[in-house]
Amino acid sequence: MSLVERVAARIETRFAGEGSGHDWHHIRRVWQLAQGLAREEGADVEVAELGALVHDIADWKFHGGDESVGPREAERLLREEGAPEALIAPVVDIVATISFKGAGVATPMRSLEGACVQDADRLDALGAIGIARCFAYGGHAGRPLYDPAMPPVLHATAQAYKTAKGTSLNHFHEKLFLLKDRMNTASGRRLAAARHAYMADFVARFLREWAGELGADE
Ligand code: ADP
Ligand code: NI
Repeated sequence: MSLVERVAARIETRFAGEGSGHDWHHIRRVWQLAQGLAREEGADVEVAELGALVHDIADWKFHGGDESVGPREAERLLREEGAPEALIAPVVDIVATISFKGAGVATPMRSLEGACVQDADRLDALGAIGIARCFAYGGHAGRPLYDPAMPPVLHATAQAYKTAKGTSLNHFHEKLFLLKDRMNTASGRRLAAARHAYMADFVARFLREWAGELGADE
């Protein structure tokens, strides 16, 4: 088995059945998207594939905000699988920099491979899958679907984003609708546009159903 296949097998075992939206199938989709983007953008495909496979190995939100856990875990797994040193540093850097941390927080990637993996991760937060993941995460966190008394909120700092007690519908405003303008690559931007439009239709329709505005023929 190749290094990428060995790492994929380890990650599949570890993430099978995970229920917060970071399951193996999310990682598998991000892996495929990152591979396609890396080819189109002329990035190192192996670094992008490995970065995608380990990108959620220890999400900062689930470790009390300790951002060193993910990179450390990724490095350990790559070492255990015999990855060459020259591959470990660029892959670990992707894990350290990939996460969205709020509307007002810039999270630039330091490599073309990282740009592809971040775009791939964001594409999987958009579209039909993105809608499903948003409500799955909201349910996991015990959040209401929507609350008309709460106006849409954006967060200026990582701390405010992390500790916000919003609704699942607000997640479209605090993150998902912002992603199309934050894509790094031209190929990623093209894919994001269609997924964004689908999601915007969904939210518009959600609000009309909530208000009891839709008739039988709509
Ligand atoms: P990223 O990998 O970009 O850091 P996250 O780990 O923040 O993504 O999110 C994983 C999934 O859960 C995404 O689909 C994201 O949109 C969703 N999600 C994250 N935070 C919330 C939230 N507060 N409410 C609803 N969905 C959320
Ligand atoms: Ni992810």
